[in-house]
Amino acid sequence: MSEPLVVLRDVNKHFGDLHVLKDVNLTVGRGEVVILIGPSGSGKSTLCRTINRLETFESGSITIDGKELPEEGKELAALRADVGMVFQSFNLFAHKTILENVTLGPTKVRGMRKAEADRRAMELLERVGVGHQAHKYPAQLSGGQQQRVAIARSLAMDPKVMLFDEPTSALDPEMITEVLDVMVELARSGMTMIVVTHEMGFARKAANRVVFLSDGQVVEEATPEEFFTNPRSERAKDFLGKILTH
Ligand SMILES: Nc1ncnc2c1ncn2[C@@H]1O[C@H](COP(=O)(O)OP(=O)(O)O)[C@@H](O)[C@H]1O
Ligand SMILES: [Mg+2]
Repeated sequence: MSEPLVVLRDVNKHFGDLHVLKDVNLTVGRGEVVILIGPSGSGKSTLCRTINRLETFESGSITIDGKELPEEGKELAALRADVGMVFQSFNLFAHKTILENVTLGPTKVRGMRKAEADRRAMELLERVGVGHQAHKYPAQLSGGQQQRVAIARSLAMDPKVMLFDEPTSALDPEMITEVLDVMVELARSGMTMIVVTHEMGFARKAANRVVFLSDGQVVEEATPEEFFTNPRSERAKDFLGKILTH
């Protein structure tokens, strides 16, 4: 594996009595693309949110590029900027244009000059295929276009790693491919990515590894090919049996 970029060691988290992450160990190398997969409620979103410090955890450690996650303050803001996150719902600011949505972070958080932020945002919007929509408002775009803007917005902060939490599951079927295509391109460009998705086509095309989570535990890790054709654990077999019948 390449040099480790994101390292989780024995991470435990509870929500009250619910033990939601159980001794989670996970290392993601620089440039690696890891798929997180598992039943609903297995802790995938919590794991992503914990890596970004949107959630606290009780024991274990998480390092990003060799640095322990800070608890709060300026350092935490810097860390958040290092970790891009794309959610199921795109959360664009409705009263700002597409361009403004993308330049907001770089100008406010990174102190970039507006002209530079605009130039860079336009490059990113072109890259995700919505350059011609830059002066429109989010509601004027399709869901697939809005999600691509959300990806551009994250990239504008120059993150070291990108987390995607079911980025296509709120989209109409015909828009899923255009978002996955952008993610495949991003993966090929060398971005380190942790992606929660059940999209097997994407996993096969772009992922180095599949990590199967069940009941807050990493149950199995394998290449996409191995995992989807020959899962080892009963829990993975059972899970794949359910998603493959649809
Ligand atoms: N803020 C919260 N407070 C209490 N329980 C939560 C909270 N967020 C998630 N959970 C619970 O933690 C478990 C894991 O949830 P989640 O990480 O969203 O799973 P997944 O993304 O794999 O579907 C679920 O049982 C869920 O109900
Ligand atoms: Mg989830």
